[in-house]
Amino acid sequence: MSLCCGAAKPRKRPSRTVAVLVSCCLFLLIVCACLLAALVFVGKHILYNHPHARHVARNLQPVGLPTETERRFWRLPNDTRPVLYDLTLLPDLAAGEFRGFVTGHRKDLVLHSKDLSIAEVVVRKEGRVLQVVDVDESLVGEVVIITTREKIFPGVYYVFIRFGGNLKSRLTGFYQSQYSGSNGVRQIATSKFEPTYARQAFPCFDEPNMKSKYIVHLLKPKNASYIALSNFPVNKTESYDETHELVTFDETVSMSTYLSCFIVSDFTNTETSFNNSGVTIPLKVYASPENLDKTTYAGEVGKKAIEYYVNYFGMPYPLPKLAIPDFVSGAMEHWGLVTFRETALLYTNTTHSTSNKQRVATVVAHELAHSWFGNLVTMDWWNDLWLNEGFASYIEYKGVLAAEPTWGMLDQFLTAELHSVLSLDATLSSHPIVQTVVTPDQITEIFDTISYNKGASILRMLESTVGEENFQKGVTNYLKKYAYSNAVTANFLTEIQGVIGNSWDVAEMMNTFTVQMGYPLLTVSVDGDNYTLTQSRFLKDPTASYNSSESIYGYKWTIPVTYVTDLGKSTDLILFKYSDDKITIQKPTGATWIKFNYDQVGYYRVTYPDQEWNNLFSNYESLSTSDRTHLLEELFSLAEAGRVEYSLPLNLTKKLEQEIDYTPWCVASSGLKNILKYLNGSSSIQEETLKAYVSKIVTPAYQNLTWDESEGDGHLRKLTRIEVLSLACSVGHTDCLLEAESQFNTWIDNQTQLSQDLRSLIYKYGMKNASEETWQKMLDVYKSESDASEKLKLVNGLANVQNETLLSSLIELCKNESIVRGQDYFSVMQYISSNPVGTSLVWDWVRCRNSFAMYPNAGAGTANRAKALETVQNNIRWLAQYKAAVESWVNSTAGGST
Ligand code: BES
Ligand code: ZN
Repeated sequence: MSLCCGAAKPRKRPSRTVAVLVSCCLFLLIVCACLLAALVFVGKHILYNHPHARHVARNLQPVGLPTETERRFWRLPNDTRPVLYDLTLLPDLAAGEFRGFVTGHRKDLVLHSKDLSIAEVVVRKEGRVLQVVDVDESLVGEVVIITTREKIFPGVYYVFIRFGGNLKSRLTGFYQSQYSGSNGVRQIATSKFEPTYARQAFPCFDEPNMKSKYIVHLLKPKNASYIALSNFPVNKTESYDETHELVTFDETVSMSTYLSCFIVSDFTNTETSFNNSGVTIPLKVYASPENLDKTTYAGEVGKKAIEYYVNYFGMPYPLPKLAIPDFVSGAMEHWGLVTFRETALLYTNTTHSTSNKQRVATVVAHELAHSWFGNLVTMDWWNDLWLNEGFASYIEYKGVLAAEPTWGMLDQFLTAELHSVLSLDATLSSHPIVQTVVTPDQITEIFDTISYNKGASILRMLESTVGEENFQKGVTNYLKKYAYSNAVTANFLTEIQGVIGNSWDVAEMMNTFTVQMGYPLLTVSVDGDNYTLTQSRFLKDPTASYNSSESIYGYKWTIPVTYVTDLGKSTDLILFKYSDDKITIQKPTGATWIKFNYDQVGYYRVTYPDQEWNNLFSNYESLSTSDRTHLLEELFSLAEAGRVEYSLPLNLTKKLEQEIDYTPWCVASSGLKNILKYLNGSSSIQEETLKAYVSKIVTPAYQNLTWDESEGDGHLRKLTRIEVLSLACSVGHTDCLLEAESQFNTWIDNQTQLSQDLRSLIYKYGMKNASEETWQKMLDVYKSESDASEKLKLVNGLANVQNETLLSSLIELCKNESIVRGQDYFSVMQYISSNPVGTSLVWDWVRCRNSFAMYPNAGAGTANRAKALETVQNNIRWLAQYKAAVESWVNSTAGGST
């Protein structure tokens, strides 16, 4: 690797002798808590220079924020930059080890390196070898420090490092994985580097703004079925020894370490291509040979999404190839070699459901959007992760809309992205989108709903505020300006400002949503046609207390207020500034109703006086699908936070008797199931009355959709059918349960072919009261099934049994990776915990085994983990505050109407 060196002073690190002494002191500090007071001075003084100090120092800081010590030890000196990695990786699949060389630089050279053993270091300048006096591999900061005898001056230095590492027992860095296919058990090597694991594969400058080019050489078995893949196309293949070949890849463009990828496998591929501003680029989809026929759809949707992006961003796809292999946990946007887990890549209309199809399309569109957002322009540091993940999570909707225009993706944004984050961001434990992070753990933690969903949601709000055309221009300018480089949030906002001129301050509005957590509730008061809005922070727990001076905006926001009336949508920009107390808006003359925040584009809530709510109820049918979806979600959420009576959302559900669209049903179904979950086990007859009420309001949609699928059913009708039938079965709709059970019994006895869309439901409700024998029979089907999506459906069925002993044995089976794959572990736990009989079993399991430590890297995993850990406290508060009101509504209204 060749490196350019600046002249700045190297950062001072403690020498090894000091470090050892200090560790002893700190050991005392940590173990003998009672002596802390006496040792604090010494400790603090030493801590400043010693990394282990962070464990102690963090206790003195607000949780999650990095300390000064962490900052000093986890960032590389910024006076040295990589230019080119010439990297050779020699995986030995039989021994489970790898060796490697990386060629590249200076005195006190500090590179990242973790779990690697460094065998040799040579530093050269202009052909002359410099004497290396020390190579210090330090766990602290995960670095290796190379010290040369002579001083380092600005210039290009070459460093050669020979190293070795372990391929086994890990799911990060460069690692070995196996699968059993038609050829028996096959070993493969693959890599996962984001965010901080490239250092486990080769010594490198593992920070996103230390971009570099790569020339990669990868060893693979000579056996013709094995291939080697990396970000760029193969340049040449040479014989290495009797059993191996060395594959050399073309030199890459400049990119961050976390985007590099190395794979040796026996996968095969299908091929399509896409039009890249007139140039044809191959798009290959790789999978294990037995899954090859399931790769076509990913190729089709990938082609359409990428062609749309090339046009939208006004910039060609920057690489010469795009391959999409399966087999990592989650999905990852490695540039030119995007990787996916099976459930996010493989689809056929004979095996998989409509939601499986949508999942493939959205994940493919998400990862391909990263080619521009993340790969071409990368966040400068992980603090601005939302520039990567929030953008990809927003742009993916445009990509899927282009590929599948009939799927109602814009309405689905509400239920798939916005609602979950509005719920999470209404708690005190949320965090701002732009968050200071330093340590690998802190960095990993921000791959969460805030960076993804809130990031996407505020971009959607920004686009609607500045207009689609301005947004697109700003985005294109930003991408052009920072291509092959890095950016921070302000750089993006400056480009948007540049396009719209200076009439209002884009950064002021956006900063109120990025630098402070949470969001506002607008409270409307009405005087004739004058609607006056005030704002306050919205919290789920109305009694939660916080100090508003901890945020520079005092938890006030600059809000783009919009509205829709029977005469149409508002068109002028209305900004309710964070510094203003209130804003008054006139209802357009002649309008009979007004609904603020049309299509729920804004990241805020609105509440009205009762008569306005009722007016909106009366006009429910006139509202757009997104507005109806919004109205339902707003009311359930406001009621859960004690801001409106529960009778309001419950009364609104009466409108569902005429509802046939997907997203309103999603919201209503989750709102009603939520209330039923709370009432469950409270031994109330109201639970049964409420179920009967829901069963009644769902019947018209149930009868419209039926269990009979017809050829002409569109995507949304199919999704609605699943939602409506699932709600009906969950509330004990007699016909629904009978049908599910009868189809289940025929299937378990005769292995008949079930509907791809309805089989999840059939497995779940067929299994509910099944005998142990039937459960075991289904377990055998699960074990012998090879399709990853089908396996999840089957295990969700197994998790729905009411027999506690069987559920406990399922939890035990999760330990065995040959039965439940590591990547599915959290999904299965979540399935079991959402079965009322299973909730406490999962809790006991989590408490006893610290199972999150067992699978720290099960995909991005955050969502599944959070769900599996959903706390019981929430339920307790709900029951104390709202049970009586809900029961009284049920007694007076639902009871009467059933
Ligand atoms: N860049 C992420 C992958 C990632 C996630 C790396 C977390 C490190 C930590 C990728 O773009 C991603 O977001 N993948 C998601 C799926 C996506 C469609 C939301 C995943 O893996 O769950
Ligand atoms: Zn992503």
